[in-house]
Amino acid sequence: MLQSKLPDVGTTIFTRMSALAQEHGALNLSQGFPDFPPPHALRAALARHALEGHNQYAPMAGLPALREAIASQLRRHRGVHCDPETEITVVPGATEAIYCAITACVRPGEEVILLDPCYDSYRPAVILAGGVPVHVPMNAPAFAPDWERIEQAISARTRLLVINSPHNPTGAVMSREDLLQLEELVTRHGLLVVSDEVYEYLVYDGRRHHSALQFAGLRERCFAVFSFGKTFGVTGWKTGYCVAPPALTAELRKVHQFVCFVAVTPVQQALADFMTAEPDYALTLAAGYQRKRDLFCAALADSRFTLQPSAGSYFQLLDYSAISASDDTVLCEQWTREAGVASIPVSVFYQQRPPQRLLRFCFAKQDEQLLRAAERLCRI
Ligand SMILES: Cc1ncc(COP(=O)(O)O)c(C=O)c1O
Repeated sequence: MLQSKLPDVGTTIFTRMSALAQEHGALNLSQGFPDFPPPHALRAALARHALEGHNQYAPMAGLPALREAIASQLRRHRGVHCDPETEITVVPGATEAIYCAITACVRPGEEVILLDPCYDSYRPAVILAGGVPVHVPMNAPAFAPDWERIEQAISARTRLLVINSPHNPTGAVMSREDLLQLEELVTRHGLLVVSDEVYEYLVYDGRRHHSALQFAGLRERCFAVFSFGKTFGVTGWKTGYCVAPPALTAELRKVHQFVCFVAVTPVQQALADFMTAEPDYALTLAAGYQRKRDLFCAALADSRFTLQPSAGSYFQLLDYSAISASDDTVLCEQWTREAGVASIPVSVFYQQRPPQRLLRFCFAKQDEQLLRAAERLCRI
């Protein structure tokens, strides 16, 4: 009756692993969200705005007060200047912005370069636009872009390149040199960029996040995408924003207004209040998450897994090659059932099965959960 436009897509691994964790009462370190509450002031502001009657459609591009707060944060934290009127769009989640940016730019037959492993929404968005995803792998242990391979993958049909730093699932953080290489490459080839920066504040051990917006050549050809869900620990609020130059923003909004039209009004009010009252709250996050990463990694010291502490994001990879040669998806399911800890197999983020044997664990969890999970993992 209907020939699927996405024949390879089933229920995502995140939904499957969370369901399996629940079924077997396993500790769930699979899905990427915190199990501790977001700031009280933020939640109180949401309740207040809903009760005070801010429950109807916001302006399509986002509440002016929130766009002002975003512009001010970008100035304060990144030294980036942008016009909230023409360059910032508030969206119902970073995923929607990525979809809208790809849909706005990619025509049938045009190619989009994706760096594997990559977040699972990029490829379906390209395919639905009639585009052709071209996957270029990044290799363990550094998971840095291989610029030579990327250049080789560029053709006359290449339209767009998607980057993600800090990176899900590997935690890799792109260096300034990487961004300079990207800037040189996309300028020379006339490509557009989607820069997924949803974990921008979660970088560790004194590293810095380099936003694509801080590089003049990228700034003029880039959709930079951010998520309040990740920054403020409110993934269920599904609100984020996209920063792009006026001409790109105009095209993004044409799609956004017919996909979702707006983001949720009282959520935007609450975020605007919170960011205005606590403009540097986001800068305090990394220390707390780094402590959690260290707690989890230290508790795994006696396990048979090997690891390199994550550089960014709230994910930690564990290498199980000393334990088993089995398929990572099979092991993930087995260890959820038998060891009582759910994780995500890293191969699902690749188009071509990778040689390494890695599982992804989310450490945005209460200390007690992390310690219990590590204890169980030490028994494997
Ligand atoms: C790399 C990456 N991009 C985008 C998103 C989606 O963000 P949002 O929930 O704001 O749509 C996620 C969520 O896990 C992610 O890991």
